[in-house]
Order: sequence, then structure tokens, then C-alpha cells
Amino acid sequence: MFDLNIKIAEEFSVDESAVLFHGGCLDLLKDMPDKSMQLVVTSPPYNIGKEYEKKINIETYIKQQTEVIKDCVRVLSDTGSICWQVGNYVNNGSIIPLDTVLYPIFTDLNLILRNRIVWYFEHGLHCSRRFSGRYETISWFTKKTKEYVFNLDPVRVPQKYPAKKYFKGPKAGQYSCNPLGKNPGDIWDIPNVKNNHIEKTEHPCQFPVELIERFVLSMTNEGDWVFDPFLGTGTSIIAAIRHKRKGAGAETEKKYVDIAQDRIQKSINGILRTRPMNKPKYDPATSNNSLTISPCQNAEQGQLYHDPGVA
Ligand SMILES: C[S@@+](CC[C@H](N)C(=O)[O-])C[C@H]1O[C@@H](n2cnc3c(N)ncnc32)[C@H](O)[C@@H]1O
Repeated sequence: MFDLNIKIAEEFSVDESAVLFHGGCLDLLKDMPDKSMQLVVTSPPYNIGKEYEKKINIETYIKQQTEVIKDCVRVLSDTGSICWQVGNYVNNGSIIPLDTVLYPIFTDLNLILRNRIVWYFEHGLHCSRRFSGRYETISWFTKKTKEYVFNLDPVRVPQKYPAKKYFKGPKAGQYSCNPLGKNPGDIWDIPNVKNNHIEKTEHPCQFPVELIERFVLSMTNEGDWVFDPFLGTGTSIIAAIRHKRKGAGAETEKKYVDIAQDRIQKSINGILRTRPMNKPKYDPATSNNSLTISPCQNAEQGQLYHDPGVA
């Protein structure tokens, strides 16, 4: 799984295996040949004023995104995929789901939407004037071809009832579900990288590695290139090289480039700690965590009362 011979290059060449470019993605894209990338997977800035972005009006944001997406489509192989992960742009309390705004850019470039994946997670900002946002989306586009790569078996997830058998008919007695597991569906319940996550760095919105592994395994084959134009902490390159693919990405902020360099090198050395794919989520209630009992709950009667010590 780990190839200790991989070196991390700073400039793109098809002969490299891992390319970490410090600079804007459009500059890295200039060096990439047409149709050379099998998978483009990314989470661009959402234009919500995070520490690495300056909030701009939505029209300018869409223009900038269009420029990058156009060049990503140029480098996309004919059987390749683009997965664009976004949340909401918020303006004066009004939310604009960015995937709906960006959708026409992709379709105008002759791509088709294969799935709109809902990434559900439990941790994030607590809102007081609307329900707290607990999902984002990943729009998966391909070219208009039946030949796009999609390998389901490596990303199947455990069945709920793997031992279930047909009880009548010609298949009676045989297992009724695929022994390799089931299709993961288009709602992905994968923990996001918040403070207690094993992969957390100082970046405010990292991808969990397991999220990108699912794309890499299903949409590429060994030796293919995976490209992330907004690389952040290097997650997409990590997911690529740990499955014998090649990874390239651009990041403008030096401090994130340094974090990415460190994580990618640790991954090459086989010592990067990540949350394994398909690991069941931690459930505090069934793990006998004492913090699951509310201070407002009368343990004997299971009734709620007001504890004056609790706000
Ligand atoms: C939402 S974050 C991506 C985080 C990433 N998915 C990870 O796992 O760490 C977007 C990143 O894009 C970077 N960025 C912003 N504009 C960029 C550009 N024009 N080219 C390359 N990176 C850019 C930001 O500094 C930020 O780290």
C-alpha cells in the first residue's frame, strides 16, 4: 500500500507521482496536458470569509469558479470524473446552495451530473436563527459517455443483513444480497474533521481522507492521476497515493502547503494516522459515556427538571 520511493515534486510533470504546487491552481493547470487527469476532486473556497479567502460578490465568485472549472474540464480524460464539493454561501442571513449556482457552469461545458451526493455530518456551527447546517453536497460530473470509470466493488459497504437468504423461488436457500456489500448510496454519513477527529490540523475545513478514498477507488484505476485545484492540507494527494494512484494539487497559502507536505510525506512513510474507511461512527450512548446523561435528567425517574446550576 505504501511506496517509500515516491518523492513530492513542486512542479507538474506526467513523470511524477505526487505534485504539491505552492501557488494558484490556474498556474498549475497551465502545465497539465489536455485529458491527463482521471479524477478532479476538490472543495473550493465557499466565499464565506474563511481565513484563506476574501469575501467577494457572488457574480465575481462565479466568474472565478468558471475559469477554474473550464480548465479542469480541459485536463479531464474522456472517461474521467469531476467531483465538486460545496456548501452554502450566506448573505445577510439568506443561504444560497452553491451547487445549484455552479451546476450550469458544468452543463454548459457539456458535462452531465451523475450523482448529487449529500455528505451528512454531525458537527458544525450552532445556529440560533435557523436550523444548524449539517450537510454539504458533492456534485459528480462526467463527460457525455457511457465509458466513464465507475468501480463499485471497492467501495461497497457492509449489508445490514448479510446472512439473509431467499426463502422461496428458484434461489431459495441462497444469500439474497451481494456478499461484497451494498452500494453506499448517495447520502454519505462520514464524520467531518472537527476537533476530536484524528486527522485534524489547523486548517478550518479539511476533507476526511476516507471521503476522498471513496472517489479515488470508484472513479480511477491504479496509475491514474487525481487532481485537486484547491488542495488545502493535501488530503486528495494522500488518498490518491495510498491507493497507487498519482496525485497533484495547488495551494496558495504557505502554511497549508507546509502541512500538506508533512502529511503527504507521513503517508508515503506509512505513518499518517487517518480514520479508516467504513469504521462505524462512535456512538456515545452505546459506549457507556457518562456525559450522555443530561444534568437536567432525574436518573431514577428519567424526568427532566431544572437544575439552577445549568444555563
Ligand atoms: C475549502 S479549502 C480545501 C481544503 C482541502 N479540501 C483539505 O482537505 O485540506 C480551500 C483551499 O483553497 C485554497 N485556495 C484558495 N484559492 C486558491 C487558488 N486560486 N488556487 C489554489 N488554492 C487556493 C485556500 O487557501 C484553501 O486552503
